[in-house]
Amino acid sequence: MQIGIIFRVIVLGIETSCDETSVAVVKDGRKILANAVTSSIEDHAKYGGIFPEIAARRQVEYMIPVIDKALSDSGISIDQIDLIAVTDQPGLQTSLLVGIMTAETLSSVWKKKLMKVHHTMGHLSSPWLTTSEDEVKFPVLSLSVSGGHSELWLRQSHKDGEIISRTLDDAAGEAFDKGAVLLGLPYPGGPEISKLALGGNPYYADFCSKGSNFAVHSTDFSFSGMKTSLKYYLRDKGGLDELSSEEKKDIAASYQHAICSQLVSRVKKALENHSDISEVHIVGGVACNSYLRDMMKKACGDKTLRIPEPKYCTDNGAMIASAAYFLESCKHRQ
Ligand code: KG4
Ligand code: ZN
Repeated sequence: MQIGIIFRVIVLGIETSCDETSVAVVKDGRKILANAVTSSIEDHAKYGGIFPEIAARRQVEYMIPVIDKALSDSGISIDQIDLIAVTDQPGLQTSLLVGIMTAETLSSVWKKKLMKVHHTMGHLSSPWLTTSEDEVKFPVLSLSVSGGHSELWLRQSHKDGEIISRTLDDAAGEAFDKGAVLLGLPYPGGPEISKLALGGNPYYADFCSKGSNFAVHSTDFSFSGMKTSLKYYLRDKGGLDELSSEEKKDIAASYQHAICSQLVSRVKKALENHSDISEVHIVGGVACNSYLRDMMKKACGDKTLRIPEPKYCTDNGAMIASAAYFLESCKHRQ
C-alpha cells in the first residue's frame, strides 16, 4: 500500500448483508478485477420476502466458493491484497455475521488490514466503479434507494456529507416489493412490477396522492400511503381476478409511476435548493428501474447523471471494496 499523493491499493470486498453472497477484488477503488455474486433469492420467493434463517444458512454454504471464484477470476495472489473490507451494518444480523467472521478470519490468517464498511457507503461509492481517476466531481447529490433504505445525500467528499431526505416509513424498494405482493407477483417485486408495467399507462390510476400537503411540501419520502391506496384500489375493483391483463399492466405502470415521481420530485427540489451540485447519482437496487432512469435523465437536465450498471446497483462486493478504498485514501490525505 503506498501512502501519499498516489494511493494504489487492491481491496478484497465482502458483502453478505441480505441474500447476496458477494466477494470482489477492486484496484484503486475503480477497477473491478473480479466481482463474484451468488444469491439465495430463489429460496425466498415462495415466502414473499427474505426468510432470514435461510439467508444465513446459504451465506455459510456459498462464502468459501465465492471467495475462491473472486480470487481466481481476478488473477491476483493473496500477497497482492492490501486491505479486506466487509459490510458490517445494516442488514440481517445473521447474514452479516457470516461475512464479518470470514473477513476477520482472513485478516488474521493472511495478516491483512480489515475495514468494516456501512452498506450505504458501499452503494454511494458504486458510481465510481469503472470511472477513471478524478472523473467524478463533488458536490454530489446521491439518491440511494433499495429494499432497506431511501435517502437523498448531499456529499462534499467521500467522508463528508449529509442526508437531506429520508423515508418516514417504507423504503422505495419495499414499496415495490409490497405492491408486487398485492398484484400477485413474486419476490423481489421491483423487477416484476417493472416488467408487468412495460407498455402500460402510467396515468391510468392515481397512487401519487397528488395535491396532498405531504407530496407538495415535504422533502422527505413516504411510500406506505401508496401501498395502502393500491390495496383499496384493488379491493374496490373486486380483487385481482376481476382485472384484465391490460388493466393489471396499467395499474402496475401507475404504481411504478407514483414511486418514481416522488423520488424524482425530491431530486428536483434538491437541485433547485443547491445550485452548486455538479453531479447526480442514483444507487441501490431500485436504480435498476428503467422507468426511473428515464425520468431522472429528463429531470437532471444538463447535470451529469451517473447510474451504475444494474449489476452494481444491487448488492455486490465491488461497491464495498470501492468505499473502503476511498475512506482509507481520505485518511491518508488528512
Ligand atoms: O440494493 P438491493 O440489492 O438490496 C438492499 O440493500 O435492499 O435492493 C433490492 C431492492 C428490492 O426491493 C428490489 O425489489 C428492488 O431493489 N429492485 C427494483 C428493481 N430491481 C431491484 N425495484 C424497481 N425496479 C427494478 N428493476
Ligand atoms: Zn443494498
